[in-house]
Amino acid sequence: MHVSKAVVPAAGLGTRFLPATKAQPKEMLPVVDKPAIHYIAEEVIDSGIEDLLIVTGRGKRAIEDHFDRSIELEHLLEDNPHLSELQSLLDRLQVFYVRQGRPLGLGHAIACAERHVDESDFAVLLPDDLYLGPEPALAQLLQAAEEFDAPVVAVREVEPEDVQRYGIIAPSSERLRDGAYRVQDMVEKPDLADAPSRLGVVGRYVLPSSIFRHLRATQPGAKGEIQLTDALRALCRERPVYAIEVRGERYDIGEPIGLLRAQIGFALARPDLAEGVRELLRQAF
Ligand code: UTP
Repeated sequence: MHVSKAVVPAAGLGTRFLPATKAQPKEMLPVVDKPAIHYIAEEVIDSGIEDLLIVTGRGKRAIEDHFDRSIELEHLLEDNPHLSELQSLLDRLQVFYVRQGRPLGLGHAIACAERHVDESDFAVLLPDDLYLGPEPALAQLLQAAEEFDAPVVAVREVEPEDVQRYGIIAPSSERLRDGAYRVQDMVEKPDLADAPSRLGVVGRYVLPSSIFRHLRATQPGAKGEIQLTDALRALCRERPVYAIEVRGERYDIGEPIGLLRAQIGFALARPDLAEGVRELLRQAF
């Protein structure tokens, strides 16, 4: 597979973070001193992709402003290192936008990318999942997509009580390398008793453009949302799809405790902040 485009769905309502997300996008909530979606843009660039499409919607203008020049700030704060760092990211990345008129689910958000992606293979990154580690999560997926010459999803073994929150894969018994599986089927948010494994799909995908055909054929589920998992199931029936366990620490910042955990994890990974955070944790708890 040859992947040169990345898609980031960011049009959801972010209800789990209300009221913080009433007037600002969830994807702009800061982790230490950068908005969550900024780390996603860094991961895209660090994985060798320079074309990023963000699916936005109502109330998401701050995302566009973030990935744009601010002539006024640049004028007021000449040679500010943080602004220069952002500018150097923007010099290497072309950011495009498409609007999802109504938040009809993750599958529908991805379907909005069809025109931009056209017939290419592409990567999807959910900004609710951030990774820390020596190799970018997306780079690991791209490597696996090349190795298997097939679509790949990221998975992680989740706690039994969390199985109901994830798309869970049914891996085949085929023996591949460590941490890699052929996906036979997938179930969205199953009860533990019905779950085919504890391997939950976690926020990174490498997909072929044929996924758009499956998304068009997908009927809305119980909450009126079009699920990506349903289209992935159809893809698995059509051609081999693989899953890999991504190396590195994963932070689920789609809910408040996960975001707090990410604040601490990302701050501890920063040489300029680590000691101060350790001291704070010692004193406070
Ligand atoms: P989530 O379901 O976690 O995000 O979707 P949400 O709906 O914004 O959050 P809650 O559950 O109400 O708190 C995962 C990703 O898919 C995007 C979201 O922006 C998020 O990045 N998404 C979801 C869309 O772009 N469009 C949708 O219709 C739904």
